[in-house]
Amino acid sequence: MGAVEIPAGLRELLQGYTVEVLRRRPTNLVEFAVQHFTKILEGQKKDQKAKKRSAKPARKGVTFEGKSNKEEEEEEEEEDTVSDKYNRRVSVCAEAYNPDEDEDDDTEPRVVHPKTDVQRRRLQDACKDILLFKTLEPEQFSEVLDGMFEVLVKPQEHIIDQGDDGDNFYVIEKGVYDIFVEKDGANVCVGKYDNKGSFGELALMYNTPRAATIVATQEGALWGLDRATFHRLIVKNNAKKRRIYEAFIECVPLLKSLELSERMRIVDVLGARAFKDGERLITQTKAGQQDNTEVEVARCSRGQYFGELALVTNKPRAASVYAVGETKCLVIDIQAFERLLGPCMDIMKRNISQYEDQLVALFGSSVDLKH
Ligand code: CMP
Repeated sequence: MGAVEIPAGLRELLQGYTVEVLRRRPTNLVEFAVQHFTKILEGQKKDQKAKKRSAKPARKGVTFEGKSNKEEEEEEEEEDTVSDKYNRRVSVCAEAYNPDEDEDDDTEPRVVHPKTDVQRRRLQDACKDILLFKTLEPEQFSEVLDGMFEVLVKPQEHIIDQGDDGDNFYVIEKGVYDIFVEKDGANVCVGKYDNKGSFGELALMYNTPRAATIVATQEGALWGLDRATFHRLIVKNNAKKRRIYEAFIECVPLLKSLELSERMRIVDVLGARAFKDGERLITQTKAGQQDNTEVEVARCSRGQYFGELALVTNKPRAASVYAVGETKCLVIDIQAFERLLGPCMDIMKRNISQYEDQLVALFGSSVDLKH
């Protein structure tokens, strides 16, 4: 077999794509490739058109045989429209990666599912603590609500099956839902959603098959958001979130041991919440001191974390947390915590003994927070 000839320009094309991937770190490499190469193609077409124009004789008031000037103009206009449409599609793909350049966004058809006032209120209530919505602008949030539709479910109904393609994202209004993940050929229940939360974002965000099976254990009500609207509003917003929080997340000591891509997956699902001075963020539910007075045991500041103890130990909250001044926290839900922070579990467990030491220093007696 003779030597394989590498087509001219292939190396440069692939190098350019690789550099862009490293620079922008897109969540979906295939989608990013479509966007990247389409841009190049568009550039080539424009160049060709410019060349064609400059090669064309100056227009005189004479009609030549063949195409008239008008016909040529129409052809050009047609080309523009096609390329416009093409661009529009491109900008949809580009949403996740460069929202600032996304000018054609508003021309995309918006899905609106009409709702009664009562439905809208129920929906708003179900969505008020959904972390993925917490960094949206009010206008975007309102569009999300417009695009959501009600789904009533029956006991044992499979809302999502692991391995399927992703169609919708779901917010829970009511009902209990088991989460199953296949391990060594068996379906293992790894957790549940109890009348709150949301699921189904992963397949839509990363264009992957469904990562878990979600089964209703009783009658329930969900609100769905279709894939295209989720992409246009949530995935686009994730690009913004990455830009805003990337630097901060990189200097959080707890997350240092994670890969960059793992840290970005945390950014994708986190929500930002602001608290006023004195506001209570976590309420102690585990009996502490006898006389019910509260004593400040520690203060956390930028880059530190709290709220993990009850999740790690599966125990009631061991302390209350109050905001000191106006504060802003980044929050992830328990499912994402368990899925994404596994590699940090050892560090968190090790740090629990520091809490125990603090309590010994304050109250003199030893405390076992882990059991
Ligand atoms: P998706 O993969 O689109 O569909 C199944 C959903 O289950 C997934 O998104 C998450 O929202 C949710 N989920 C909850 N716990 C887990 C888990 N441990 N692993 C994967 N997905 C999970």
